[in-house]
Amino acid sequence: MAGNGTVSLEWNDNSQNDLAGYKLYRSTISGSNYTLLTGLLNASDYIDNDVINGMVYYYVVTALDTESNESETSNEVSARPYVPSSIIIQENEAGFISVNGTIDNNNPGFTGAGFANTINAVDAYVRWSVNAPEAGRYDLQWRFANGNTPDRTARVSVNGTAQLANVSFPGTGAWTTWTLTGIVTVQLTAGDNLIELAGNTANGTANIDWMEVTGLSPAPGN
Ligand code: GCU
Ligand code: CA
Ligand code: CA
Repeated sequence: MAGNGTVSLEWNDNSQNDLAGYKLYRSTISGSNYTLLTGLLNASDYIDNDVINGMVYYYVVTALDTESNESETSNEVSARPYVPSSIIIQENEAGFISVNGTIDNNNPGFTGAGFANTINAVDAYVRWSVNAPEAGRYDLQWRFANGNTPDRTARVSVNGTAQLANVSFPGTGAWTTWTLTGIVTVQLTAGDNLIELAGNTANGTANIDWMEVTGLSPAPGN
């Protein structure tokens, strides 16, 4: 898994009882030129911070037994660390698909042209389209207001598949008091992704000012 100046690796445990540990190898060429990256590792994961953003790295791992017999190499995986970028999608901008409700501007403090106000019903939704140049993990965050009501928790699906069951949109005290959700991570596919936020409660969702997407070059989708 690539990140900003980092690659996180994780592999299946070897279950043999004479296991001594693992060796991790890296190359910048697929299939050859591997060099040993680590000493003997006890854990079946490793974080490689010795990387340059934009470069592609190829990794294989081996297992060693207590007599120093080394296994064949694992399948190769690759990762390209990158500098993340962010986009904010407003209700009147490319990437905003629809709200199961209305676009309103009666509660000040919003940015852009207003905010998405879902109907007050379970499953009421807001939808966006986000383009990802390749499949990977992206962070999402929303700016919202929730007048004096309980937490309007919502779930997130991507391309129709549930990814997060319970994003918190707690009461902000007034419909004119806007704040940010926590940052949540979803998996996007290469190309356009339909991101849906759907209310878990009979109140629908909070009023949504915008959604921010952070990761490898996200762009508004069609
Ligand atoms: C109020 C508020 C709306 C909000 C609604 C709700 O009517 O003005 O913006 O969406 O409450 O409870 O959802
Ligand atoms: Ca509403
Ligand atoms: Ca807005």
